[in-house]
Amino acid sequence: MKKIFPADQLARDERFVRLDTAERFNDPRTIRGSGSAGRMGRQLSPESPGAPDAARSLMHGIFVGEIQALEGAGRTCWDFDIGKGSDEVPFELKLDMARQCWDEARHCEISVKLSDWMGTELGEFAESVFLYEAACNPDPVLRLTGVNRALEGLAIDVFNTMREFGTKAGDPVLEFCEDWMLADEVTHVKMGSDWLRRLTADDPERRERALDFQRTVDKLFSLGGFRGETDENPIQLARKLRQMAGFSTDEIDELAEIALQAKADAEAMAAGAGGA
Ligand SMILES: [Fe+2]
Ligand SMILES: [Fe+2]
Repeated sequence: MKKIFPADQLARDERFVRLDTAERFNDPRTIRGSGSAGRMGRQLSPESPGAPDAARSLMHGIFVGEIQALEGAGRTCWDFDIGKGSDEVPFELKLDMARQCWDEARHCEISVKLSDWMGTELGEFAESVFLYEAACNPDPVLRLTGVNRALEGLAIDVFNTMREFGTKAGDPVLEFCEDWMLADEVTHVKMGSDWLRRLTADDPERRERALDFQRTVDKLFSLGGFRGETDENPIQLARKLRQMAGFSTDEIDELAEIALQAKADAEAMAAGAGGA
């Protein structure tokens, strides 16, 4: 069986619609879509204009992310031989990835049922495969920082925000689904934090490359004030849960800074476009 399986060959049935990430975020129903001016710039709450569509699209995005997280963790079990080389992994890392596969498979089932509960059809929103693409990195440490720390770290922020949204909306199904998946995601992010530190203990350059990859992914998904710590950010940075997942206070501060910078960059771009 081939190693580093290409993203364009992932198996999907006819319900799924694939778009690139920029196209997907231009869907006006999403929280970051071009028609979302009424939603961006404030926390997601049941009273926000367009909140039901924003919540449904966010959870559909999480659903396809769960499929890709399952595929990515499965590939990490397969793509690397056991050993100490830079393209090899300890057997225990494969065991962690196998456990993650089981969790993500369960999250897929929870997400399908939750989507149905929220009135969403599978494929109603598009799928982009950025998570799986990050899971194709040839260096296993970069895979775990890009996927487990950056993207599943984002999943912690989204699940925590959506759990609060479920509480405020008086929807216990949404609230408890988010809570159960959140508990697993904290574990997955912690796996990323632990393996990053273990595998790069004697290799500061590799650690820095991995953290750089994580910063790039984090910046991409903080774009335009999507995630942050102010009242203007629809998705709130979940500090306490990130600490439980092995992030230091300095790392969380840096992430908050990346989010602010991403917002400033987006505003500068918008001002430039408006003046043209
Ligand atoms: Fe998950
Ligand atoms: Fe996960």
